[in-house]
Amino acid sequence: MSSLKPSSRFAKTLSVSFGITALGLLAGVSWAAPVQGANDLAREIARGKMLTYTCIGCHGMRGFVVTYPFYNIPKVAGQNREYLFDALMDYREGKRNFPTMKAQARSMTVPDLRDIAAYFASLRGKIKTRLPLFSPAKGRAGAKLITTCAACHGEHGLSVSPQFPDLAGQYPSYLIRALEEYKTGKRRNAIMNSMAASLTHREMLDIVNYFASQPGPLGQIPGS
Ligand code: HEC
Ligand code: HEC
Repeated sequence: MSSLKPSSRFAKTLSVSFGITALGLLAGVSWAAPVQGANDLAREIARGKMLTYTCIGCHGMRGFVVTYPFYNIPKVAGQNREYLFDALMDYREGKRNFPTMKAQARSMTVPDLRDIAAYFASLRGKIKTRLPLFSPAKGRAGAKLITTCAACHGEHGLSVSPQFPDLAGQYPSYLIRALEEYKTGKRRNAIMNSMAASLTHREMLDIVNYFASQPGPLGQIPGS
């Protein structure tokens, strides 16, 4: 499964990234995080924070929505760093198509996106999180449908690798939107395109209500 190897896009941007492959082999996993100095990381986080004032208008507001189609703007604070970087690169490269996000990602350099991902990920455990609205009945039905998903996203929506997004406590309307876009191929990712292909809309609703009902680290980015 070559798509499960460490994100080469991410590894390439790290200032110190020696021994990635060796570490991965030793640990017996293919996605071991590259080694990085604490000072580099602190610098990246500080720089990332300065670059995100334009993001606060949308990702800093609880329950802020997109209309036509209607869905909540995703919680990005506390999300996994490698996944965040991949998501921003996907907008930049046109694998994801939300126009504002494409414009944001294209107006920045790759190191900018790396630092933003570092900043958002650094908020894990430091922000208030609140469960979004979800349907408990659909959630209970969804719990029976997530066996395959749990292999990567964890039984409770906390992913097993920093390359996979956490789903716990994410807005169900956004998760549905994501699954529908994977199913139609509008959002391109080899793994998720095949995962979503066979899901009915009803199954998606049940599954996302389950994941949304799980407590997790995601929230809004702070205003200052
Ligand atoms: C106009 C509102 C708006 C602004 C401003 C905005 N975003 Fe977004 N962002 C969105 C929406 C809506 C989505 C989901 C779009 C989709 O369906 O792909 C999104 C998605 C994302 C994602 C992917 C989340 C995931 O779980 O996959 C990341 C990362 C992100 N934004 C980061 C940023 C950053 C960094 C900035 C500032 C440089 C920013 N956004 C500015 C509305 C906005
Ligand atoms: C083999 C690992 C794997 C499995 C199994 C898997 N996923 Fe994923 N999932 C991923 C990866 C990798 C991504 C990020 C893809 C991208 O960059 O668009 C992802 C992304 C997602 C997203 C988008 C989240 C966001 O913040 O935008 C949702 C929703 C999702 N998966 C739901 C599911 C569901 C539901 C199942 C089971 C039916 C499932 N996944 C099974 C690896 C997996």
